[in-house]
Amino acid sequence: MDLLSSKWLVNLLVCWFFIGVGCNSVEKKIYVHLNYTIPCVRLLNATHQIGCQSHLSGNVGVLHVLESEENLDWVLRSGLNPPYLVILESPLFTRSIMMKLKNGSSRVAGVAVVAANANPPDGFSPHTNCPNENTGVYTESYDPAMSHCNVTVWNPLGNGLSYEEFDFPIFSMKDDNDTLVIRQCYMDHNRAVNGSTPQYPLCAMQLFSHMSAVTNTATCMRRNDINFSISPEMVCDPLGDYNVWASTKPLNNTAKGHKDGERVVVAAARLDSRSFFFDVAPGAQSGVSGFVALLAAAHALRNATQEAPPPRNILYAFFQGETFDYIGSSRMVYDMQNNQFAVDLDNIHSVLEVGQVGLRAESKLWLHSDPVSRKNSSVDEEVKKLIQNLQSAATDLNVSAEVPNVSQPLPPCSFQRFLRARPIPGVVIEDHQSAFTNRFYESMYDNAEHLNISYPSNLTLEEQLEFVTDTAMALTEVATMVARTLYAQAGGAESQRNNINADRQIVTRMLYGFLVRSNNSWFQQLIPSDLMSHLTDTPTNFYVGVAPQTSKPTYLVQYLLANLTGSTVNITQENCQNQRESEEDKENKHMYFYVWAQGAALPNSTEREGFCTRSTARLVKAMSPAFDLREYTSKDYSTWTESRWKSIKGRIFLVASHELEMVTLGVGVGVLLTSLLLTYFMSSKADILFSSGREPANATY
Ligand SMILES: *[C@@H]1O[C@H](CO)[C@@H](O)[C@H](O)[C@H]1NC(C)=O
Ligand SMILES: *[C@@H]1O[C@H](CO)[C@@H](O)[C@H](O)[C@H]1NC(C)=O
Ligand SMILES: *[C@@H]1O[C@H](CO)[C@@H](O)[C@H](O)[C@H]1NC(C)=O
Ligand SMILES: *[C@@H]1O[C@H](CO)[C@@H](O)[C@H](O)[C@H]1NC(C)=O
Ligand SMILES: *[C@@H]1O[C@H](CO)[C@@H](O)[C@H](O)[C@H]1NC(C)=O
Ligand SMILES: *[C@@H]1O[C@H](CO)[C@@H](O)[C@H](O)[C@H]1NC(C)=O
Ligand SMILES: *[C@@H]1O[C@H](CO)[C@@H](O)[C@H](O)[C@H]1NC(C)=O
Ligand SMILES: *[C@@H]1O[C@H](CO)[C@@H](O)[C@H](O)[C@H]1NC(C)=O
Ligand SMILES: *[C@@H]1O[C@H](CO)[C@@H](O)[C@H](O)[C@H]1NC(C)=O
Ligand SMILES: *[C@@H]1O[C@H](CO)[C@@H](O)[C@H](O)[C@H]1NC(C)=O
Ligand SMILES: *[C@@H]1O[C@H](CO)[C@@H](O)[C@H](O)[C@H]1NC(C)=O
Ligand SMILES: *[C@@H]1O[C@H](CO)[C@@H](O)[C@H](O)[C@H]1NC(C)=O
Repeated sequence: MDLLSSKWLVNLLVCWFFIGVGCNSVEKKIYVHLNYTIPCVRLLNATHQIGCQSHLSGNVGVLHVLESEENLDWVLRSGLNPPYLVILESPLFTRSIMMKLKNGSSRVAGVAVVAANANPPDGFSPHTNCPNENTGVYTESYDPAMSHCNVTVWNPLGNGLSYEEFDFPIFSMKDDNDTLVIRQCYMDHNRAVNGSTPQYPLCAMQLFSHMSAVTNTATCMRRNDINFSISPEMVCDPLGDYNVWASTKPLNNTAKGHKDGERVVVAAARLDSRSFFFDVAPGAQSGVSGFVALLAAAHALRNATQEAPPPRNILYAFFQGETFDYIGSSRMVYDMQNNQFAVDLDNIHSVLEVGQVGLRAESKLWLHSDPVSRKNSSVDEEVKKLIQNLQSAATDLNVSAEVPNVSQPLPPCSFQRFLRARPIPGVVIEDHQSAFTNRFYESMYDNAEHLNISYPSNLTLEEQLEFVTDTAMALTEVATMVARTLYAQAGGAESQRNNINADRQIVTRMLYGFLVRSNNSWFQQLIPSDLMSHLTDTPTNFYVGVAPQTSKPTYLVQYLLANLTGSTVNITQENCQNQRESEEDKENKHMYFYVWAQGAALPNSTEREGFCTRSTARLVKAMSPAFDLREYTSKDYSTWTESRWKSIKGRIFLVASHELEMVTLGVGVGVLLTSLLLTYFMSSKADILFSSGREPANATY
């Protein structure tokens, strides 16, 4: 009782003091929490850290809405109230401005970029202009004249911003109510009118994105180890995910390593993408166009490979983490070399990779190959056959597939990692002859709009799912060409080939599902019910994420591949989920993967009729071998890690001047001291002051 009474008294006193001294300005401070903020986060490799971060307690700066590049002078030199938190419209999010802010970072508390509602007309790529420069096949020792994009700069628009390090937070904000509030607050309080100095209180913003990891991967992995012995608190995690693969003839997945007599044609595509900001990586042209074409090709081949199986197997491989120094493909090649995969490198007949194929100028495709390995005549012969197969498939389809200058090296692609291991014949299909046609490579603008995918406004969601766009039609042609070529590569009969056709409705739905909304009735049918939460009403994010988690797109691609290449089996849900066809069956799990898909909703009901799909679609680890080998400074394998963080948030409020804050603080300290004395006095004299008898000791507060 005594403690409670004295606390109450102190509170009363404090309130009284504050009201008396004008501390009500504290109460009037407005805090608006920003609702949609996407940060740029810190990543680390063997030697560097890149990305952004705030102080532990967030960075606070006076808001400044940048109107033009000239206006930077206010932020960097003339403004009287640094540090500033700079609001940028997306056209001003350029390398030139960002590097000036980085150089003047003592006066910059952070940057918030207002996302554009339409793609910039001139293109924008925050990636490097020579992607995966050091981890492809073109090293100094392979061919010095081709290393470092010496012959072709693949991504000429790449400004490298994604690989810079900033020591302030950078957030992306949707152009919505949040930004309205910010602009209004800036206009009301901070804008310097006619050269006058803005008066306090000023509108300020605070961004939190503190990152736990520093310096480089070796350092943070060491700290992980130290921390782990005390408490399981990690500071960084390796980037990684799972590759998805399937084969036309089932392979015993338990028996790893070489399989005698098995010849496989590898059909590859990449899954992942990235952008400057953490979880917006739509990857429409860079990833989706290629893997959707390959999925549709795999579907087109289902009947032909079952009814008239060609002598060679076809292995579909979808690689994750390729953006970050080929995590997925380097892992699969490593596993093949170490007898950890269902087949090994000796089993590989050839490789056909589907790269960026979403935007074809004059409906042309380009067939890229490696000039160095083709110096070997047997490799050259196989490459020529493959090109011929592709071109004859193209001729029947009215697509033109041409070969770029023979001395041009391969563009960045997963196939480079196979070539790094040994000379294997292979071709990479692209929509560009030399430099990328993709003006938005690894940016948030590589989206449906970029691929000209749009829908008439009077369509319902279900109608959009089925609406065939020109892009879908063009991609269906590519898929058919890929499918027919793969059949020929696998040694299939020519008479069968022209019956193989990709389904444009399937391509249409996949483009919608990945680029517009994965939460659609088709995707819902194909997945197990526990993955419903993975479906979203927004475009899919293809940023790779951290190992050993499986990202949403990886699951979606696995279940799509299962549905498109597998068959339904009439077995119970329990057997299906236990990877067997009957209680006695112990063998099929080595050969097949079973999925209990939830199926379509019954009419007028939320109940669904599930079914079991049997396929060869499996996941296999896509984590850089550098982490298994504990070689954190590896030059051969990806060393990228992602820092952990505790909170990502932003808010705006009004700040008083330093003088006023000092007065407030002084008064606060005075009140505190007085109240401490008072408390001391009262609790020592409590018996006298409150003589109503004591409560039992355990009733204290
Ligand atoms: C960086 O800022 C310093 C002054 O702080 C200036 O002298 C220098 O020219 C700036 N460098 C660049 C590249 O802008
Ligand atoms: C490319 O490499 C060759 C041989 O190393 C060199 O002579 C040439 O100048 C380089 N070209 C460019 C554009 O760097
Ligand atoms: C790490 O990343 C930085 C920034 O992109 C790059 O300059 C450096 O070469 C990379 N280090 C390695 C070992 O790849
Ligand atoms: C934005 O503000 C308007 C009016 O203030 C409100 O009607 C609308 O729902 C808000 N939108 C969001 C996304 O909060
Ligand atoms: C953020 O969301 C909350 C609740 O959804 C809403 O009350 C608030 O007004 C929103 N803030 C802004 C700036 O729109
Ligand atoms: C700023 O200056 C212009 C012309 O010098 C004048 O018309 C305008 O009223 C001024 N604005 C304010 C807010 O003082
Ligand atoms: C698959 O391989 C495992 C391990 O070698 C073996 O036990 C199993 O019988 C094989 N299954 C089939 C169907 O070949
Ligand atoms: C595959 O075969 C089934 C039945 O044999 C048939 O219904 C289906 O239309 C065929 N699909 C294609 C793409 O030819
Ligand atoms: C949508 O509008 C177009 C004309 O603008 C019309 O041709 C089409 O039939 C309409 N579709 C539906 C589903 O109403
Ligand atoms: C694929 O999914 C569809 C539902 O969209 C279903 O009708 C079909 O049976 C599935 N096929 C396989 C092989 O699972
Ligand atoms: C599936 O199996 C059950 C029991 O074995 C049988 O009653 C049913 O008719 C089968 N369904 C189909 C579509 O074959
Ligand atoms: C579903 O509901 C609609 C309207 O509620 C009704 O007209 C229709 O007959 C129902 N269908 C079935 C299969 O029960």
